[in-house]
Amino acid sequence: MRVLVIGSGAREHAIVGKLAIEAEVEEIICSPGNPGISGEPKARCVPADIGNPRKMLDLARGENVTLTIVGPELPLANGIADVFSAAGCEIFGPSRRAARLESSKVFAKAFMTRNEIPTAQYEVCTSEQQARSILDSGRFGYPVVVKADGLAAGKGVTVAADRETAESAVQEAMVDRRFGEAGASVVFEECLTGTEVSYFVVSDGQRVLALPSAQDHKRAFNDDLGPNTGGMGAFAPSPLMTSALEQRIMQQIVMPTIDGLGSEGIEYRGVLYVGLMLTESGPKVIEFNVRFGDPEAQVILPRMKSDLAKLCLDIANGNLIQNQPIEWDPDPAVTVVIASGGYPENYTIGHEISGLKESTNKVMIFHAGTQQDSHDILTTGGRVLNAVGFGGDLSSAIADAYDIVKGVEFSGKFYRHDIGQRGIKYLKKGVNDD
Ligand code: AMP
Ligand code: GLY
Repeated sequence: MRVLVIGSGAREHAIVGKLAIEAEVEEIICSPGNPGISGEPKARCVPADIGNPRKMLDLARGENVTLTIVGPELPLANGIADVFSAAGCEIFGPSRRAARLESSKVFAKAFMTRNEIPTAQYEVCTSEQQARSILDSGRFGYPVVVKADGLAAGKGVTVAADRETAESAVQEAMVDRRFGEAGASVVFEECLTGTEVSYFVVSDGQRVLALPSAQDHKRAFNDDLGPNTGGMGAFAPSPLMTSALEQRIMQQIVMPTIDGLGSEGIEYRGVLYVGLMLTESGPKVIEFNVRFGDPEAQVILPRMKSDLAKLCLDIANGNLIQNQPIEWDPDPAVTVVIASGGYPENYTIGHEISGLKESTNKVMIFHAGTQQDSHDILTTGGRVLNAVGFGGDLSSAIADAYDIVKGVEFSGKFYRHDIGQRGIKYLKKGVNDD
């Protein structure tokens, strides 16, 4: 089978790395890919405009692929799955209408309300004046969460500790249009407290299979301080994910979501990422994403023993067999993001990277923001590399990941030192004690 993978980050590197070891996969075309991906066996990178579904269809046809797997949300929000399906090409990723779960927070909140899916209380506003009157009402107290409606590359959410911060979030989104049209509407939300867990399922629109849970580390600095980022590291599975909790999430959140979409004529085909807050009154949805998490995929996919290509093709075909569970390596995995100093704000790029090692069965390096010049691999993004460790337990997985991190050098290298420690704490204290 020839497979096209769309995207260019460490998540896509993890997808390609998994496909590369599968017997049925003959060749992987990754668009646009990165130097780490092009170094994988069977893989080749091709530049393309991934936001343009028709151009991607031309590429898939020209390369004669059997299956396309979509990494990031933008192509899905632009309707790539609809264009491929209409042309009879198999694609792993939901339709444009289903992708609104991620591309419109207004849609997602209204959908959850009509399907009685537990989530934070909210109010939508479409003008600055309305925003002011919501803040005047004091309905949500402080902190209040302010979210731009549309896609904002992970920067559209502000947890505002006071009125001034909430007002400036509204100003940025609605008046300055920092996120363009994505900020035309804003959602105010009650601030939930608890522990965040990422939960993943795959579905063909009828049937659902669970993937392992994971925990991301979103803040830039140690001890969860500093600004929100795209994710500074992750571990999987989450020790908090007991089977009772998983059952509750399936019954109260996942099935009502898949079935609710179905009753609105939307078949969800792909992976659904449920961002959860484990609150005192049970799990509540913080956000839906319609793709694999990044960096969560980097700690989930390397532990998958079943074939990813076959799973994705079965889902694309609407042929998922529910009573044939996916097999996983039970050992935990940890990934540490190696970033550019100053990320997520200002940072410099173009620095030469040294100390990159080959992946083994205990450690892997996935490329996120790298580029090849004639001799060297250079930094080209805020998140540069992901080091993944798979020791037999969480402590040794952490140690393995940090061994890799310490061996890699580039000017301005920066990373968190406490990735996975939260998991160790849960394991020591028991799951109910945060
Ligand atoms: P998102 O971009 O929707 O993932 O939101 C970014 C981060 O904001 C989440 O990972 C949470 O840490 C935080 N967040 C979003 N919504 C809420 C909420 N209702 N209550 C508390 N924290 C939230
Ligand atoms: N890990 C956060 C995200 O993928 O959006």
